[in-house]
Amino acid sequence: MSDSFRVAVLRGLSRRPRRIPSRFLYDRRGAELFEEICGLDEYYPTRTECALLDRHSPEVAVLLERRQPRLVEFGGCSPAKARYLLETTRPRAYLPIDICRDALAAYASDIVRERPGLAVQPIHADFMQPFRLPPGEGPVLGFFPGSTIGNMQPEQAVRFLARIRPLLGEGGAMLVGVDMKKSHERLFAAYNDARGVTSAFILNLVERINRELEGDFDLGGFAHSALYNAGRGRMELHIVSRHRQVVHVAGRPYRFRCGESIHAEDSHKYSVEEFQALAKRAGFRPAAAWCDAEKLFCLHFLRPQE
Ligand code: AVJ
Repeated sequence: MSDSFRVAVLRGLSRRPRRIPSRFLYDRRGAELFEEICGLDEYYPTRTECALLDRHSPEVAVLLERRQPRLVEFGGCSPAKARYLLETTRPRAYLPIDICRDALAAYASDIVRERPGLAVQPIHADFMQPFRLPPGEGPVLGFFPGSTIGNMQPEQAVRFLARIRPLLGEGGAMLVGVDMKKSHERLFAAYNDARGVTSAFILNLVERINRELEGDFDLGGFAHSALYNAGRGRMELHIVSRHRQVVHVAGRPYRFRCGESIHAEDSHKYSVEEFQALAKRAGFRPAAAWCDAEKLFCLHFLRPQE
């Protein structure tokens, strides 16, 4: 992992524009800060998605015709969200997939303690790469919450869904949480919170480079910037150099002009129609789309196309 971090950082700092894949934001510290973001007033997605799951997970069980699925959760360390589906769909097994071995192990043992009857089969894998499910009975319900799919470029999201589709089996489905397009003010506030937690989360990437790759980023010399790119329908999060400077990473110099940035994350926003069109391109049939009254967030229930 730290080796792939090194390769990604050195490559990302050498290209123009500079860009480092957003999964590297989530080290231990990054995961803690992201948890804190989820509780912020300005950050509506988490509580909105939980309310949607609370309201609609009984319908998920009905759409599965009460056949007990194997519940496969992508980025499976969000206990609060899986809980709704565990209650209503009564899965025969729960398979959280995560790239972070420690978080996954801790999470799995919590769940096992909480639900002694449930078969928990954690899968340590990077779900952006091909992976296999252990053999088992019943349809698969793939659960991809948090609008994590918004981190992917749209083409990448199509390829991801198309790759998952054959894993779902007869009667299987995907439930995907997707953040929606909305007023730019609302989006801006969600990624520029008053307490600066999002800024700390994004800047943790250069702190991590300092910690793990012998970097000498001066934190006062860089700022967090989060802007809505209307043309691409996404929030873009950058680490911007406040002045001309030279930074060293693993012994190599990197020059920054004033205002030059490292692109650290994209967060794509989709209307219901846009996401349904994307899902169709991946070979899915949109069977339900549940949004809150303010149209902030949407849960998409997708069937593999026959
Ligand atoms: C985890 C990708 C869904 O895009 O809203 C939140 C990440 N970054 N605040 C999002 C994030 C800054 C989050 N996702």
